[in-house]
Amino acid sequence: MTNGDAAWWRDGVLYQIYVRSFADTDGDGSGDLQGVIDHLDHLEWLGVDGIWLSPITPSPDRDWGYDVSDYRDVHPELGDLATLDRLVSEAASRGIRVILDLVPNHTSDLHPWFVDARSSVNAEHRGWYVWRDPRPDGSPPNNWVSVFGGPAWELEERTGQSYLHNFLTEQPDLDWWNEDVRREFEDIVRFWFDRGIAGFRIDVANGLIKDRALRDNAPATQDDPEDIRRRGQRQVYNLNRPEVHEIYRDWRGIADAFDPPRILVGETWIFDLREVARFYGATGDELHLCFNFPFVFADLDAETLRGIVETTEDALEPFAQPAWAGSNHDVGRFPTRWCADRPAAARCALLMLLTLRGTPFLYYGDEIGMVEVPVTGDDVRDGPGQIGEAQTGRDPGRTPMHWNAEPGTGFTDGGARPWLPIGDARAINVADQREDPGSMLHLCRDLIALRRETSDLRSGAYASLPSPPGVWTWRRGSSTTVAVNLSDGRVAVPVDPGTIAIGTDRSRDGETVDADINLGPWEGAVLRVAPA
Ligand code: GLC
Repeated sequence: MTNGDAAWWRDGVLYQIYVRSFADTDGDGSGDLQGVIDHLDHLEWLGVDGIWLSPITPSPDRDWGYDVSDYRDVHPELGDLATLDRLVSEAASRGIRVILDLVPNHTSDLHPWFVDARSSVNAEHRGWYVWRDPRPDGSPPNNWVSVFGGPAWELEERTGQSYLHNFLTEQPDLDWWNEDVRREFEDIVRFWFDRGIAGFRIDVANGLIKDRALRDNAPATQDDPEDIRRRGQRQVYNLNRPEVHEIYRDWRGIADAFDPPRILVGETWIFDLREVARFYGATGDELHLCFNFPFVFADLDAETLRGIVETTEDALEPFAQPAWAGSNHDVGRFPTRWCADRPAAARCALLMLLTLRGTPFLYYGDEIGMVEVPVTGDDVRDGPGQIGEAQTGRDPGRTPMHWNAEPGTGFTDGGARPWLPIGDARAINVADQREDPGSMLHLCRDLIALRRETSDLRSGAYASLPSPPGVWTWRRGSSTTVAVNLSDGRVAVPVDPGTIAIGTDRSRDGETVDADINLGPWEGAVLRVAPA
């Protein structure tokens, strides 16, 4: 695959790097861009095609980079533009593209635009943010609530008006009805594409446009899904406005004009999959990939996941490619969330992620089945997580990578205190698993290689097959079948005769299967079968 291959993101596997936790090369206890460069060999060996870096732009880090104070530079704690350029070129020489995180919904309150905007009603950037007078009784302009809890409005005493913040008060929302904001972001997008960035993951992709009249959201009813009831309102006016699609058609035009074309990936935190489908554009003219949160938040249960995948397949137009992830920096790690830290279940989940129709996103550490690390007391770094919906914080899924079993786990030289607790790497780490062909790491690498050499797995259609309870079986293309037993029992699963290409129990690779495949608890396999 070359850098000029426009469909690389369809065929490939992407890998999310939470830069602060990947590798620390300057001894300050925080990962940095040089640390990513130093581990490109690992990523090349694993076989990933692209990396998505969590925000690397300067930020006061109230929300760890998702509060941007300069959209055209690198956070000094992570490196500088020259290091990023080197990362892009070193990655390219290994066939790996670099995707950045773009945060267009809001800035930091310390961004010069907002510092100016809040200074006076006549400030140059006043109209870049959403300002309104409080209601006559002094209450906020409308009933919108912040994702992190509490009213989505903050009164600015100096001017007597309130500004909108769908997240922290330190994350004022930009006004995307303002043409100057749109032009500025088109420039920002081009700035990074000109530097060879392969695309963006767009933060809060469904949230940029707000109702122009700022109407109150309707209250939740008993019939609404749990997440809406928990918030107390249907978020139809502060999020999920149809006009947001114009922005993505515009950006898609910019992305397509580059050679090779750049890609746009949406953080579409939406639970109606028909709504998610709209972000691909009516003619495939918006985002290339959209995260599927119903899948992320589902239980690791055969019937549930099969239902979500079937609904996704039905909702998407033929040109639209699903994206699958089990872990990320917000939802935590799938080996913990889905698999209760049971290695067999984690292997099964990994096999599923890498064999569904669509683009898999691995999160750093997924390849070794890394589990969450408890983070409490003084170690807590995720401020918003303390006031957010979960109330537990997102730190446990953001802890440093376990490269080896040494003190510092190969993440840092052990001098400075790591920015988050490093946990115990003795049971699960990259170095030990590289030595063990039966490890999760080798399973991951071999599944990625199998995808690369099997057109059914890259582009074959998905079709559910009849399966016993607790088991999910599907066909990809003409001659590949996948079966995962997501239950505690041993099951005989009817399949077409064939051969196990890769099983989660590696001793079964190459085994011939006649009519049934017997799967142990939390065991899965990819089979080459007679063409349908
Ligand atoms: C996205 C990010 C999350 C952040 C939020 C606000 O959901 O993934 O980490 O807190 O946006 O920017």
